[in-house]
Amino acid sequence: MSPALLVDGVRSGYGESIVVHDTSLSVKPGEIFALLGKNGMGKSTLLRTIMGFLPLQAGRVELFGESIAGLPPHLVARRNLAYTPQERALFQDLTVEDNLRLGLRDAALFAPGLERIGTFFPFLPTRLKQRAGTLSGGEQKMLLLARALITRPKLMLIDEITEGLQPTVIERMARVLRAERDESGVAMLIVEQHVDFALSVADRYAVLKLGEITDRGDVASPGARHHITDQLSI
Ligand SMILES: Nc1ncnc2c1ncn2[C@@H]1O[C@H](COP(=O)(O)OP(=O)(O)OP(=O)(O)O)[C@@H](O)[C@H]1O
Ligand SMILES: [Mg+2]
Repeated sequence: MSPALLVDGVRSGYGESIVVHDTSLSVKPGEIFALLGKNGMGKSTLLRTIMGFLPLQAGRVELFGESIAGLPPHLVARRNLAYTPQERALFQDLTVEDNLRLGLRDAALFAPGLERIGTFFPFLPTRLKQRAGTLSGGEQKMLLLARALITRPKLMLIDEITEGLQPTVIERMARVLRAERDESGVAMLIVEQHVDFALSVADRYAVLKLGEITDRGDVASPGARHHITDQLSI
């Protein structure tokens, strides 16, 4: 079976400055894969490259066995893939409802989608007319995740969803991601600096350092936490 996501020998960056070097990873259908790394190591750059916001300078990117190299972001997004960027991802001046509807191609999916989202984040259905920009930081992160989930994607790329969140919200995010994966079989590539969160949701992990993967393995393997904290401390 083809992986949900294949990244093979990818090189990318900003003009002359190469940030991601020869990086390879694959995410199986239904798998949650955590990409960890300190600030500035190239995690977001890799996600932007997968999405087609940055040109692929070398290597392959495939979704369910089909190449997406060279495709613009709006066409990548149509392939049952949901991306939650790290920054400036919501339409601040639009309402909660409009933000949720934007990613849906079929308006009939809104009502059932909202019901499901409401079981994960009960505040959302009660705030549909509120401007997204007036939600608290944590609420905005939950809306961002809800906007991705409502499209019922086959693959999600999630960039530091826990950044700036309090522990109870982080725990809720972990439950939501696991529940969604268990119910729908969605595959996820989560970029994280929060090691406990990553270890609590992911099946496998890799550590990105200066644009190269320096460690990888199964989250359940005995030395995983030790390896990761070691890699993140230097
Ligand atoms: N638009 C840009 N133009 C030039 N360099 C950039 C640009 N965006 C990011 N970089 C550089 O690329 C490197 C990797 O950045 P990236 O955002 O991918 O890191 P990251 O691993 O996501 O870090 P963080 O955990 O802080 O989000 C950094 O040195 C950063 O300064
Ligand atoms: Mg980043």
